[in-house]
Amino acid sequence: MRTVQFPDELDEALAPFRRTGAKIGFVPTMGALHEGHLSLIRCSLPRDTVTVVSIFVNPTQFNDPEDLRRYPRMPGHDLALLENLLRGDDVVFLPDEKTIYPEPDHRHFDLGDLDTLLEGAFRPGHFQGVAQVVSRLFGLVRPARAYFGEKDFQQLAVIRRMVHLLSLPVEIVPCPIIREKDGLAMSSRNLRLSEEARRQAPRIYETLLEAYRKRKEMPFPELEKWAISRIDEAPALRTEYFRIVRADTFRPARHWDDPGPKRALTAVWAGDVRLIDNIPFD
Ligand code: PAF
Repeated sequence: MRTVQFPDELDEALAPFRRTGAKIGFVPTMGALHEGHLSLIRCSLPRDTVTVVSIFVNPTQFNDPEDLRRYPRMPGHDLALLENLLRGDDVVFLPDEKTIYPEPDHRHFDLGDLDTLLEGAFRPGHFQGVAQVVSRLFGLVRPARAYFGEKDFQQLAVIRRMVHLLSLPVEIVPCPIIREKDGLAMSSRNLRLSEEARRQAPRIYETLLEAYRKRKEMPFPELEKWAISRIDEAPALRTEYFRIVRADTFRPARHWDDPGPKRALTAVWAGDVRLIDNIPFD
């Protein structure tokens, strides 16, 4: 693999592929890599002639400065994992803040309801920051395909919308959630869980599954209340939201036989770490 820091080095590494019109696959990350990230890279490797992985902890998507400060950074560990997985011509892009934001990004993306519902409501400005950084990274890498995990299910919709708004020629490829053996969705934030919170965190996924089993027993608003109280029974957990929504609009779904695909999404504080998870709910 090749490791590059600056746009001209990136262009040089990708020039032979761009010249021949070969497909460039892209996996943007914020580092602290785990199996979830590696699974995105494994999706790209057989499909794309060259894969670019970026590592950049994007300040504009953190609505809480303390969360940004405490976000895990482990470049040595990340590069060792990538070295094992990537091919000779694949590229690791490690831009600094000046490269991504030579000047402050004041663009506002019209994300519609995505900016105000669920994650949009609880993390004001977060999705604007995600749209900013991903559009800038797309501008530098110019991928044919980009890979995102379904754990950040609403983020996927935000990125699709940004791609549509800017008419970018990038195919967005969703990849399934990767879980620990006990069901906890993999996340870089799991590293910050206390022992107690880590022990209790699998209850989040268990409750999503249990709610799904009970989906025909009561209307969804009632089921959501049941799920919140089940999660909150664990002393280290506190649910911020548990919602069953239409998977295309993120508007509330009310009943199991409402038409269209549905998704249950939740955000839960496990001690002082905020975790999110979701499952299809059809
Ligand atoms: O999902 C993430 O890790 C980040 O939101 C992303 C897409 C790399 C943008 O910073």
